[in-house]
Formats: sequence, C-alpha cells, structure tokens
Amino acid sequence: MKRLTVPAIRKRKGGEPLVMLTAYTVRMAQLLDPQCDILLVGDSLGQVIYGLPSTLPVTLDMMCAHGAAVVRGSYHSVVVIDMPFGSYEASPQAAFASAARIMAETGAAAVKLEGGVAMAPTVAFLSERGVPVMGHVGLTPQAVNALGGYGARGRSEAEHAKILADARAIADAGAFAIVAEGILEPLARTITAEVACPVIGIGASAQCDGQVLVTEDMLGLFERTPRFVKTFEDMAGRISAAVETYARDVRSRTFPGVDQTYLPKD
Ligand code: KIV
Ligand code: NA
Repeated sequence: MKRLTVPAIRKRKGGEPLVMLTAYTVRMAQLLDPQCDILLVGDSLGQVIYGLPSTLPVTLDMMCAHGAAVVRGSYHSVVVIDMPFGSYEASPQAAFASAARIMAETGAAAVKLEGGVAMAPTVAFLSERGVPVMGHVGLTPQAVNALGGYGARGRSEAEHAKILADARAIADAGAFAIVAEGILEPLARTITAEVACPVIGIGASAQCDGQVLVTEDMLGLFERTPRFVKTFEDMAGRISAAVETYARDVRSRTFPGVDQTYLPKD
C-alpha cells in the first residue's frame, strides 16, 4: 500500500468521509495507520502525553520528536503535524522556518495551524512554497485564553459569521483541508457546503467531509472526555484489570512461571 498524498486527500471533498486520528508514538501509529487516511500528530500531546494544563507550552522539539516517530510507524496515511503555539503566528516567514524544520526533521507531508482570517496570508505563504497546510477553525485550543474556555463556538450570530469567514479565508488561501472543532452542527454543515477543500469535523457534524478524534479519548484512555467524544473502547479498564492480575501474580510468586524462566539444560 503506497502512502496517500495531499492532493489525494484534497480530492476527497464531498466523497467518502476521511478517517483521521491523532498519533504521537510509533506503536500507536502502526496500529492506526492501515485504517486511517490521515494521522495527526496533534499538540494535544501536551495534555495527553505530558500532563500539561493546555497546548500552550508544547514546543517544536516535542512536535519534531513525536512527528518523526509517527512517520516511522506509518506507511499509508498522510501524516500532518501541528505547529505549536508561538512557532508560526508572528509572521509568514517565522511560520515557514518552523514548518520547514518540522518537515525536514520528521518527513511529514503537511502541517496544521490554528486560526482564521488573520492566518490566511500565512497559509498562502506556506502553500505557495511547498508546505501543504491544514487549517483549524472554531474552537481553537491554542486560543483558550482569548476564548475564555473550551466551550462550543458559533452560538451567537456574530460568532457564526466570524467562524464561517475564518473557514472561507483559510480555504481560499490554499489550505488542503480544514479541521472544524467544537461548533454548532448547522454551522459545520454550512462551512462544509461552502468551502472547496475537505472539512474534517471534531464536535462538528456527521455531514463534514471526514472526522477526527484524539485516539486516547476514543479508546477511553484519557481522564476527561468532552461531549463530542464517543468512547469506542474502555482501554483504561482493560489496562487496570491486566495490571491488577500482574500485581497479584508477582505477590503470590506465580509470575514468572515455567514458560517465562530460563532453566539449566541439565
Ligand atoms: O491537537 C489535536 O489533537 C488536534 C485535533 C483535536 C484536531 O488539533
Ligand atoms: Na491541535
């Protein structure tokens, strides 16, 4: 199976829904890759992997290290790497330097950045210079301090209009796809209908051109899950049960057993 390309993803607009999940580590990437179209090395790794309070402290070093692991663990999906807070907002030139480093150090084909109208010139600058960009509008976690929390967006008419304008600007600037996060369902449908590139929803609408979730959320591995997450498996429960059995076996000296011990060959 050859690796999908960015143009192939773009062509999926209005077609079979795109399947996207986050991945931060090599083994998880290997397990998700055959089923996915896109693996996102999300800056959500700040909370999920590092226990940070938000995505704001995530660094380029962290994104590069995890991004390289995910590229090594996949051969089919397009790997997209989040640009961390502070690495792209100041200018298109700063964004290009960060994106070039991410692509050179990881081998990933694309980056993702948060923002709307204000980021459109940056999306155009990167897209015209060989850096495929995925946008991210609506609830943009790097803006948590400006937004005042992680609640759903697009409830007021003004907010609805702003998010639609953001999506249009990013799409018109050349983004190959856009993540729409935490917005009212009708707004997600409107954005999907109005922009030319695929719109990938998370807490958005089943009518988007694809869906993304944080893998640890859908596997029941993270402590807090927002309303839009469906828990497809209780991995936390399964891990706890396995560790309970291990602890019991160690304490009763039933592990290691004969099968796990090197015995002398008489
Ligand atoms: O960082 C992340 O995991 C994301 C997805 C939730 C879209 O940006
Ligand atoms: Na992110």
